[in-house]
Amino acid sequence: MRWPLIVSGALAAALAATAPMLVATRSVGQTVAAAQGDSLRAPSSFADIKDARARSVALFTEAGKVIESPRCMNFHPATERPTQTEQMRPHIPLVVRGPDGFGAEGGLRCGTCHHAENFDPAGVPGNPEWHLAPAEMAWQGKSLAQICVQIKDRDRNGGKDMAALVKHMAEDSLVGWGWKPGGNRKPAPGTQAEFGALIKAWAESGAYCPS
Ligand code: HEC
Repeated sequence: MRWPLIVSGALAAALAATAPMLVATRSVGQTVAAAQGDSLRAPSSFADIKDARARSVALFTEAGKVIESPRCMNFHPATERPTQTEQMRPHIPLVVRGPDGFGAEGGLRCGTCHHAENFDPAGVPGNPEWHLAPAEMAWQGKSLAQICVQIKDRDRNGGKDMAALVKHMAEDSLVGWGWKPGGNRKPAPGTQAEFGALIKAWAESGAYCPS
């Protein structure tokens, strides 16, 4: 598939379009204070919910604070274009998922700008695995209940069983970026380990979804 808008030399134009935006959003000499994330409840704090189904739903709902944070949602857009910032606005410049999630073939690849680490002086976040989730894993515009069903569906979760799902949430490096996003981006709530523990406890309690 070709993306006529973004092939051949469009990189320079795109960067030129991006640079003033960065300058405009960060006044000179301003120190970028790391934003504070919200906390997460530990799985043990749900132990008093005796009904396993209700406890499972409560665990997922707590984990949902992470799933629905802009840090995660920006990578699970409803369209082929990522979103940016707390407002989850369309990515500037226009970039698309492409066949492998890492950008259009022969066009603007994610790694052109997003490197292995956050680069705060230019406001560009980074991770070696920087790419979009596949289209079947789109979360934006869906309720947490719908996302829950989707996450369990092996046709829409990359063929993951529960163990693989827990591992992805608890250990994946790009997922982990959500807690160290750099700049003044608000980190996802809690820590990746706490999030992983909630997902694990949810799986062990039957992996029920909110209705
Ligand atoms: C031309 C440079 C450039 C390219 C290419 C690029 N990005 Fe970005 N991207 C940026 C910049 C700069 C930001 C930070 C914007 C901000 O925070 O104001 C950003 C932010 C993001 C964010 C938001 C992170 C957050 O939660 O705030 C996501 C998601 C993202 N990019 C995904 C991608 C993906 C996926 C690709 C490849 C398909 C890609 N980007 C290609 C420059 C680029």
